[in-house]
Formats: sequence, structure tokens, C-alpha cells
Amino acid sequence: MSRVEVECKMEEGPLGKYIIVPKGLYNVVPDTTTISGVDPKGEHTIYRGYTIADIGEHASFYEAAHLFLYGQLPCEDELREIKRKIDTYRGQVPEKIFDALKLVPKTHPMYYGSYGVALLGQYYAPEWRFDDDFLYEHALRLIASLPVIFTAGWHLAHDGTVIRPDPNLDHAKDVLRMIIGRMPSDLEARAFESSLVLYMDHGFNASTFTVRVIASTLSDMYSAVAGGIGALKGPLHGGANEKAMQMLLEAKEQAEKAGKPLEEYIEEYILQKLARKEKIMGFGHRVYKIHDPRTDVAAKFIKQLPEGEYWLKVLKKAEEVMWREKKLPANIDFYTAVLYYQLGIPIPMYTPIFAMGRIVGWTSHYIEQVKNNKIIRPTEKYVGPTGLKYAPIEERCKK
Ligand SMILES: CC(C)(COP(=O)(O)OP(=O)(O)OC[C@H]1O[C@@H](n2cnc3c(N)ncnc32)[C@H](O)[C@@H]1OP(=O)(O)O)[C@@H](O)C(=O)NCCC(=O)NCCS
Repeated sequence: MSRVEVECKMEEGPLGKYIIVPKGLYNVVPDTTTISGVDPKGEHTIYRGYTIADIGEHASFYEAAHLFLYGQLPCEDELREIKRKIDTYRGQVPEKIFDALKLVPKTHPMYYGSYGVALLGQYYAPEWRFDDDFLYEHALRLIASLPVIFTAGWHLAHDGTVIRPDPNLDHAKDVLRMIIGRMPSDLEARAFESSLVLYMDHGFNASTFTVRVIASTLSDMYSAVAGGIGALKGPLHGGANEKAMQMLLEAKEQAEKAGKPLEEYIEEYILQKLARKEKIMGFGHRVYKIHDPRTDVAAKFIKQLPEGEYWLKVLKKAEEVMWREKKLPANIDFYTAVLYYQLGIPIPMYTPIFAMGRIVGWTSHYIEQVKNNKIIRPTEKYVGPTGLKYAPIEERCKK
């Protein structure tokens, strides 16, 4: 991982000295966190002390959620308790939320997520508080409920039905069952679970930072998560996994027409896109400049699922071309796109699944922010005109 050096400038401003930071807050550190981030050597992303790849490969959803929320991997009784709560809460999404979702015009499931979560806050916590019991209970309710809302939205928009959660199943298996409408195998459920864990957190990424900004105003956790979902939806963030699969399927179709294998044609396809100055979704990262270690874990599961060897060849070829042409590595979204395709998941559910993992990070960051809060409110450098005077409308637009 290479760290890019960027300079900040100091300038005199009307409110005192201004620190002018790089656009996009590149390499800017607005706060500290003990939840996740790049280790001091800049080699790995760390989940509460463990590497992201270690936890992604080995931890269950419940173990990883416990690690994020409470700071350590659970002992047996703690594991039983967090599992009991997440499974119970998954089955308790109020009927009125489903009724409300039925009124939403058919749309992308990410919109159902933002509406549903905001409404859920109204039901569960109309009066917000900041004591530990309350914060952790609502973090777990959000973690458990979000997948139910997304999957309800997806099915309502398609066949008007709602597949209900089964609190007797493990979280990841039940969520995948609700998405694909059949009972997944243990391997499918574990591959899906691992992807949720890999998505759980990633330092001050755009959606997490959005959650922290909202938390810093002492707004409630449900509103903060609704904001996080909005930030994640964009194609430069969570929306990339959907775009990456659409791109791979477009390349596959073109390859078939050209009578060439995709693992060969993908080079031509990428070169054409780069020549048109288009971005290749699923490549590049604000932090990982050489390699995204999460892709190694996802690759292990891709290999075991249908057409695994074939897809890995396509992914590796695309990576080789992008590294040669742009020195950009593939990111996790390029790999989960294929993994979700292998699991038979509809493409519009890819970004919601990212959110079903990231909700663990969002709620953990919400709690960390409010426990040591300072409102996040930067200062702008105004460069527009000054001295204009209001004129009545009849005088304003004279030609
Ligand atoms: C993730 C991303 C937003 C990181 O942004 P960033 O750190 O600001 O990096 P930049 O966008 O400044 O990229 C630096 C250069 O690489 C190019 N680049 C970055 N990602 C690219 C991609 N996926 N395809 C082609 N070129 C890319 C940029 O155009 C830029 O080129 P320039 O210097 O000639 O203008 C960016 O890489 C991207 O848009 N990737 C595609 C979307 C994606 O996969 N997002 C998921 C991230 S987990």
C-alpha cells in the first residue's frame, strides 16, 4: 500500500488561520478511531487489531459484529447473546413498516432502505437517548432489521410479495434465503457471510464519514444510517459492485458475439473503455493503491462456487490489464460482483448487501462518535462574488 503525500496550506481567513486541505479530503485525518483503519506500517487494514482478511475469512457475522460493537471477539456466552438478539430482532420488524413499504413507488432497493430505516426509527425510538444500553440495543436492531427491509423492498418491487425472516436460521443464511427465495447451501451461506464481514467497515470511508457527521449533530442513529445508505448508493462507493457486474455481463455478451472467450476478450473491452476515458468500475481505491487484501478472501469462495475457475481467469486477466495500463488494483467490489452473480443474487441487491455488512461499521462509528463528540463542521473558503444588492424582480433581468 503506498501512501500519497499531499500538502496542506495555511491561509489567513476572515475567521483566523485557515487550513486548506486537499480536495476530497485526500489523506486528511479529521479524527482518531479504534474501530478500523490502515495499520501504522500502511500494509493492512485492521479490524479492531486483526487484519481485515483474517476476520473476513474466519469470523462469523455474529463474531465480527461483536468485535466491532464491543471491541473484542466474543466468548461463548457473549456469542450466544449477540446471536439471540440479532436473530430475534430480525423477526421483529413491525408489520407497519411492510405496510408503508408497499406504498412506495417501485424503485431500487437502496431507496427502500433509506425510507424503511427512517421509519423504523420512528417506531423503535421516537425519543432518542445516549446511554449504553439504549445505543447498543438500537445498533443491534438496525443490524438485524436492515436486510429485512431491503429484501422486502426488492420483492415488493418485483412480485408484490414479502419473504418473512426465519429467526431460527443463522443471520447470513436467512438473509441470503430471503434474497434468492430458496434455502442456500452451507457453502453459499458461508461465502455470503464472509462477504458481509469483508464489507463491515473501512475507516472513514464516504458513507461512514456521513454517518459520523450526522452523529456529531447528536441526531439519532436511524437518521445517521439513512444518510449512510444515501452516500453508499453512489457508483463511486457501494454502487460500484452493481456497475462492475453490469460491465462484466456486457463484456460477456460482446465476447459471445465476437466468438471469443471472455477471459481473452476482456482485454479488448477494457482497452476500448479506457480509450473512451471511461472508468472501469471495481478498480481503484482511496486507500489500497497496490492490492486490496479483501479480494483474496472473496477469490477463495469464488473458486468453490459454480464456474469459479472461469470467473477467476476473467478477473485475473482484467487485473493484469488494469495494472499494466493504469497501475490500479481491483477492489472488493469487482470480486463480490462475481460472487453474488454465482449465488444467483439479482444485481440491484448488490449494493444493499454492501449496506447489510457496513451497517455494523456505521453503528459502531455512531457510538464512537457520540461518546467523544465534537460537531463536525468545517469552514468553507468563499470564492463567489460579494457586494451584490437585492433588486426587485422587474429590474433584475432587464436585457
Ligand atoms: C475508488 C475511487 C473513487 C478512488 O478515487 P481517488 O482516490 O480519488 O482516485 P482518483 O479518482 O483521483 O484516481 C486517480 C487517477 O486514476 C484514474 N482512475 C481511478 N479509478 C479508475 C478506474 N476505476 N478506471 C479508470 N481510471 C481510474 C482517475 O481517472 C485518475 O486519473 P487522472 O489522474 O488521470 O485524472 C476511484 O478509483 C473510482 O472511481 N473507482 C471506480 C469506482 C469503484 O470501483 N469504487 C469502489 C471503491 S471500493
